[in-house]
Amino acid sequence: MTEKVISIIDQRNLQAIPPILESPAGLVTDTMNRPLRDLRISVTDRCNFRCVYCMPKAVFDKGYAFLPQTSLLSFEEITRIAKLFVAHGVEKIRLTGGEPLLRKNIEKLIAMLSVIQTISGRDLDVALTTNGALLAKKARALKDAGLKRITVSLDALDDAIFKQMNDVAFPVSDVLQGIDVAHQVGLGPIKINMVVKGGMNDQEIVPMAYHFKDTPFILRFIEYMDVGASNGWKMDEVITSYEVIQRINAHLPIEAVQANYSGETAGRWRYQDGSGEIGVISSVTQAFCHDCTRIRLSTEGKLYTCLFATSGYDLRALMRDGRSDAEISTAIAHLWRARTDRYSVLRTADTANIQQDKKKVEMSYIGG
Ligand code: GTP
Ligand code: 5AD
Ligand code: SF4
Ligand code: SF4
Repeated sequence: MTEKVISIIDQRNLQAIPPILESPAGLVTDTMNRPLRDLRISVTDRCNFRCVYCMPKAVFDKGYAFLPQTSLLSFEEITRIAKLFVAHGVEKIRLTGGEPLLRKNIEKLIAMLSVIQTISGRDLDVALTTNGALLAKKARALKDAGLKRITVSLDALDDAIFKQMNDVAFPVSDVLQGIDVAHQVGLGPIKINMVVKGGMNDQEIVPMAYHFKDTPFILRFIEYMDVGASNGWKMDEVITSYEVIQRINAHLPIEAVQANYSGETAGRWRYQDGSGEIGVISSVTQAFCHDCTRIRLSTEGKLYTCLFATSGYDLRALMRDGRSDAEISTAIAHLWRARTDRYSVLRTADTANIQQDKKKVEMSYIGG
């Protein structure tokens, strides 16, 4: 029988705020000299899919305790936190979930975030990761609200395999239509993320490459990760990026390309015939912690300095306690300065002995 996972109860908090810093905002770096650049915000812990690697049905069933409405951060609270992070040097905010398009009036939040200017004087890069189910319906409103780009998760083109992966019998044609509508309304560049789980959808690697070659869409293959506590991860179900590259190269010759920016998750490759590029995200076999600039805010306002963390820092409590911006900003600066996380590096060094830690938070809770 699968063990039930209870929603995370936080064990750490920031109630004991250190003395307010003289200038609480401004650039911060952690113990490994990594700046804070990228804030990922989960706007709901709910999803209309039950992807086998993320929200397996056996755990996320009718009895699962999703967060109550009152726990969620309001759009005003999210925007307040976002501005404090931007003052610390954040340049990019990604909205995730669960499925972010399930959050009511999400376009209002996008409108509030997309007018923020970064400290280097640029427009904040606001992006969103979606499963695409509601994209055809919502793409226009998202674009009108100021969203520039999206990433769509798509694990197969074959309808039967796609349905097996999402486990709610959702047809692939609706997602493909959503991608087309998003492109038509001018959301771009659009990235397509495919998590590869050995024995389930790896036969779709080459068809996916053929399908998205010669299109404006950038396909990225993601190694199946041991994130959360419920997907029953095993190393022998991971198809490595090396293997993905080999398989594609056997049909469509490709060559490596330089990263766009330091800290990029994906390794870039391009087709030798000039017909586009693909990416591979190798967090299992080639960890990218050394320049990880990401922090995550859960739906209920807890901050996680690593995707594989077991506990978060309660920012919502600070806000609802009436703390000032200077106090919250100070708390964020201290948290980031003390950061030592490099989970994937440590796991790569010890993959053979890895066991799923029952306390690790779920990706649907802190965001992808
Ligand atoms: P861009 O802003 O387009 O560059 O997006 P991104 O490269 O940040 O990638 P995206 O948000 O699409 O993330 C792709 C996938 O990479 C996620 O769904 C995760 O599977 C994985 N990933 C992203 N961030 C991290 C991270 O901090 N640690 C680990 N281990 N994996 C991550
Ligand atoms: N391994 C890798 N990526 C995952 N995601 C969720 N669970 C996993 C996992 N176990 C990522 C996928 C998906 C996004 C929403 O979260 O990239 O597209
Ligand atoms: Fe939902 Fe995305 Fe998780 Fe799939 S990967 S269950 S679409 S949150
Ligand atoms: Fe960053 Fe943690 Fe992912 Fe490493 S495992 S890249 S530290 S989020």
